[in-house]
Amino acid sequence: MTKTARRQLWREGPEVGAIGLGCMGMSWAYTPSERDDDRSVALIGEALDAGVTLIDTADVYGPFHNETLVGRALRGRRDEVTLATKVGLLTQGPGQPITRDGRPEHIRAACDASLQRLGTDVIDLYQLHRVDEQVPLPETWGAMAELVHEGKVRAIGLSEVNVSQLEQAHAIHPVATVQSELSLWTRDPVAEVLPWCQAHGTGFIPYSPLGRGFLTGTMPAVRDDDFRAGLPRFTDEAQAANQGIVERVREVATRIGATPAQVALAWCLAQGEHVVPIPGTRRSERLAENIAAARISLDDESLATLDTLPAPVGGRY
Ligand SMILES: NC(=O)c1ccc[n+]([C@@H]2O[C@H](COP(=O)([O-])OP(=O)(O)OC[C@H]3O[C@@H](n4cnc5c(N)ncnc54)[C@H](OP(=O)(O)O)[C@@H]3O)[C@@H](O)[C@H]2O)c1
Repeated sequence: MTKTARRQLWREGPEVGAIGLGCMGMSWAYTPSERDDDRSVALIGEALDAGVTLIDTADVYGPFHNETLVGRALRGRRDEVTLATKVGLLTQGPGQPITRDGRPEHIRAACDASLQRLGTDVIDLYQLHRVDEQVPLPETWGAMAELVHEGKVRAIGLSEVNVSQLEQAHAIHPVATVQSELSLWTRDPVAEVLPWCQAHGTGFIPYSPLGRGFLTGTMPAVRDDDFRAGLPRFTDEAQAANQGIVERVREVATRIGATPAQVALAWCLAQGEHVVPIPGTRRSERLAENIAAARISLDDESLATLDTLPAPVGGRY
């Protein structure tokens, strides 16, 4: 596999492979019948061999199973990666409600539990999965900053936040990264959050950069036990309406000799040098395809087409 290009994740932060790896789908959300821990562990190893170093998980994925899986995959190779996990969401299991908990006592206990499952004594990037509206952000963020001072965590980040939340947090402790949904059919962060990150030396980590698989044009029919079945963009009607987006992406891909998945990732990378997407996959051949996207640069004609795609039918959640 060709090695991926590299980027600095945040100002004074680590240099990482320009394409990271999201591990959620290995234990959570998508096509449960296709999960295979041994294969996923091997795939994480392959990713490391190919220079992918940003590895993303969360305690809620599983719940808990994904961190244990990632910990297993990194045994003996911990020092090769920037290990990112998340805190602040709770669930009893698949199909059960997901709630938020940003209380400092929860953050502290959850961090200790994550360290144990990941088999490490320090988390490189600890991200607040969602702001808990019941807890003032400074309290949650202050507890996370304490973990940095205690040496349990190297840096802290936020997910799905707006600029005013970023300002509030940054005044207390530097926001190393923002992880929010960003892709050809989800451009919400482009107007304000991405420029804020660039100006403040904060890295931006696009999640679901392949539109949860839809933008690749190869997504199989979504089954009832799949998380996407409950999302507005994945109803049969929305998918039919959104095929036009996939077709335009495919046209660009054909013209430049790439795949739609690679075009989707190259577009994310083109949003700024501080951007490191984390596509999720459980398959070797897709891993290689996604990594190769870092070598593709989109010409003006491609960018013009991609920047004028129609808005999708259906909300994100
Ligand atoms: N902060 C948050 O709230 C949040 C929310 C969602 C996700 N995330 C993070 O972001 C990561 C990525 O997001 P995501 O997994 O939701 O969506 P994604 O990366 O946009 O898409 C993943 C889906 O695309 C498929 N896929 C991957 N590469 C492909 C390729 N080259 N061709 C065709 N299909 C391909 C995968 O299937 P296979 O696995 O079968 O290959 C999977 O079904 C997650 O793993 C997680 O770490 C964070």
